Amino acid sequence: MPEMNPALANQFNTTLEKVKPTSILTFDRKVSAIPGIVKLTVGEPDFAVPEVGKQAAIAAIENDDSHYAPGTGSQALRQAISHFMADRYQLDYDPNSEIAVTIGATEAIFTSLFSLINPGDEVLIPTPTFPLYATVATMVGGVPVSVELPAPDFVLTPDLLKQALADHPKAKALVLNYPGNPTGTTYTADQLKALAAVLKETKLVVIADEIYSELTYGVKHVSLASFLPGQTLILNGASKSGAMTGYRIGFIAGPAALMKKLIMVHSILITAPSDPAMAAAVPLFGSEAGKQATEEMRQAYQERRDFLTAAFTRLGFEVASPAGAFYLFVKLPASQGTDDVAFATKAAEEAAVAMVPGSFFGAGGAGYLRLSYATSMDKLHLAVDRLEKFLKEA
Ligand SMILES: Cc1ncc(COP(=O)(O)O)c(C=O)c1O
Repeated sequence: MPEMNPALANQFNTTLEKVKPTSILTFDRKVSAIPGIVKLTVGEPDFAVPEVGKQAAIAAIENDDSHYAPGTGSQALRQAISHFMADRYQLDYDPNSEIAVTIGATEAIFTSLFSLINPGDEVLIPTPTFPLYATVATMVGGVPVSVELPAPDFVLTPDLLKQALADHPKAKALVLNYPGNPTGTTYTADQLKALAAVLKETKLVVIADEIYSELTYGVKHVSLASFLPGQTLILNGASKSGAMTGYRIGFIAGPAALMKKLIMVHSILITAPSDPAMAAAVPLFGSEAGKQATEEMRQAYQERRDFLTAAFTRLGFEVASPAGAFYLFVKLPASQGTDDVAFATKAAEEAAVAMVPGSFFGAGGAGYLRLSYATSMDKLHLAVDRLEKFLKEA
């Protein structure tokens, strides 16, 4: 095993001194070692890849679809994504100049921020939210600015946005994730229209992370691009709606003039996505069978959400019933104090139920826990039974 020459210890990019590994993964790794633990920590579907996707990937391999695709992704997948955006959200994106297939939404976040941010540029990030935005903004030399959203709805209002813009007039970008991780919050067309009216007066590029757009309950997802097409980059992908987290297929859609620079960065970074993975995503976005497969998963999530919402309310947690994604963001009962890290650690160690401390999602998250219901009903029942016993004994 080679040992690094000790003289190299300070040879790293100094920006990385500000970047920390994500607390969620560190916590998850720690609690995973607890025997028999029920994990409500992971943000990934427990479903198998839909059959149409699997068969398409197998066919791609057997047909020797094994060469560099265009940097923006295969023509077939960009066409399927264009169809998906029109069919579900009535949006018109040209597969030849306005869509790029990325390595998961993760690369889409990196590519967008890297393409926009100069050293010291501010990025407005409503919190609590997915921690990767702040991490990547920092990594590319920017300054993440948290816009703390008020409980219990965690919605960015035009007034909060105006205040953030007044405090940070030179901010370059806004990241808006909805349906939201960890809160499950979604936005109505009226709420989006009101935000768009404010944003239109600015030079902000909005990175709208809509990766959970297909997983909404009782409401239909509306894209911010319906009201702000000229300055919105939509991020989405197959990870959540297609249960394909390991296939690593995401995409960015936006106006051609913005996409041109992003596509340059993206192509330099990744060359092209993997052919079989792209083939699997074509029927997900482009066929009725793919749409149906997502719909079946959505219905299962809704059933789990309803069960978990009722159960946690009964256990004394304050639960907003989120209209999207597959998380509940619950407030600790008053009897349990406000230290979410201490509670989550104790619940993992003593009740063998793992939940993510809300403070890991930034300002506004302390005193909360995130529960992922992307796990089976049996496990959810077991988690609730264990927690009920734990709270009685606590
Ligand atoms: C809001 C949000 N955006 C992006 C991602 C990353 O998605 P992908 O696996 O497609 O990179 C996640 C994953 O948990 C997420 O919750």
